[in-house]
Amino acid sequence: MRKPTAYWEYIKVDELLSLQGGLESDDSKLTNDEVLFITIHQIEELWMKLAVRELASARDLFVKVPVPEQSLAAAVRSIQRMTELLRFAGEHFALMETMTTRDYLAFRDKLNPASGFQSAQMRELEILAGLPEEDRIPLGHEKSYMVMLRNHDGSPSSASRRVEARLADKPTLREAVDDWLFRTPIQGSTPDRQDDLARVRAFIDGYVDAHRTSANQALEYALSSALNADRERLAARYQREVEGARAFLMAEDVAEEPLRERRSRIRTALVFIESYRELPLLAWPRAVIDGIVAFEQAFVLFRQRHARMVERVIGRRTGTGGSAGVDYLDQTALRYRIFRDVWAVRTLLVQESVLPPVENASFYGFADSSHT
Ligand code: HEM
Repeated sequence: MRKPTAYWEYIKVDELLSLQGGLESDDSKLTNDEVLFITIHQIEELWMKLAVRELASARDLFVKVPVPEQSLAAAVRSIQRMTELLRFAGEHFALMETMTTRDYLAFRDKLNPASGFQSAQMRELEILAGLPEEDRIPLGHEKSYMVMLRNHDGSPSSASRRVEARLADKPTLREAVDDWLFRTPIQGSTPDRQDDLARVRAFIDGYVDAHRTSANQALEYALSSALNADRERLAARYQREVEGARAFLMAEDVAEEPLRERRSRIRTALVFIESYRELPLLAWPRAVIDGIVAFEQAFVLFRQRHARMVERVIGRRTGTGGSAGVDYLDQTALRYRIFRDVWAVRTLLVQESVLPPVENASFYGFADSSHT
């Protein structure tokens, strides 16, 4: 007969409670502040462990061609869980703020040069989600985050090995989602059709017209209440928005074909899904996109929350890892965006009343042949 399981054996309570001693053999030699500092970091690493697992699962589901509908539901669940994990992780910083600057300074020097900058799991999250390496803000030397993950003598550490393995673990979630978006039917047309390009372009033309109508309406309202001095500036701003919409959908910022055409189709698919979100076949795709927006928002808020906590505890001094401290952290919150196109389409979405009609609505599980 199986031995009855005890809670403390299953959860490994004794092992867990013996891990908060930092550089000492056990935590009885440390202040409450230092034990809190270590424990919160450990809890955060555990949340990140779960988030990395969910991220890998979501990515694996998107790799299938075509992605089965039930896989999309599972992927959405993983993305939602990751979002909640990051939200929780951000909330723990409030607990850290119960430590005063002086209390932290009492033990801070012994950490040096250790830093959250060496958190391999944080890097795994970024890499697996798809943060482009060229977007990284250096601490001083090129690829500095990899240098910092190695042992002090430059030899590989468990952290650097883990991150190296993640860099080789392709595709990223962003790449897998992009491939899936690229295959999305637009006006019932798929990339394998001969006339797909022409049909996508026709949709872009119709959409840009709708965007112009929407922008002109908004401009009219804005002008009716604007001061005279502001009129020209407002008109120019709305004009730029209209021109920007076409340039974005045509992916004019991408230098080379066929990458430009591919990016254009991905962006147009995003606009299509967002614009006709109530079509039954688009129900899960739109849930995926909503999930991705919430996930990235939670990631950005986590970074911002950490930065505000850091500012409160250590002001603007240099970090133990040697960065510009809060200034560096604020830059990461501002610049580290992974799903840029998903955010960018929000600027050009229009109200339902001006949308071009859906062609082939029945293809998307809608009985009516026209839908506005
Ligand atoms: C008093 C508490 C804390 C202070 C003063 C602090 C300070 C800093 C500073 C200044 C940096 C920038 C790198 C450097 O120069 O060291 C940093 C990075 C980081 N910290 Fe903290 N931190 C604290 C607590 C935490 C906690 C509890 C976590 C748990 C998640 C954490 C996670 C990170 C991560 C992941 C980075 C890397 C950020 C990036 O490179 O994008 N920190 N921290």
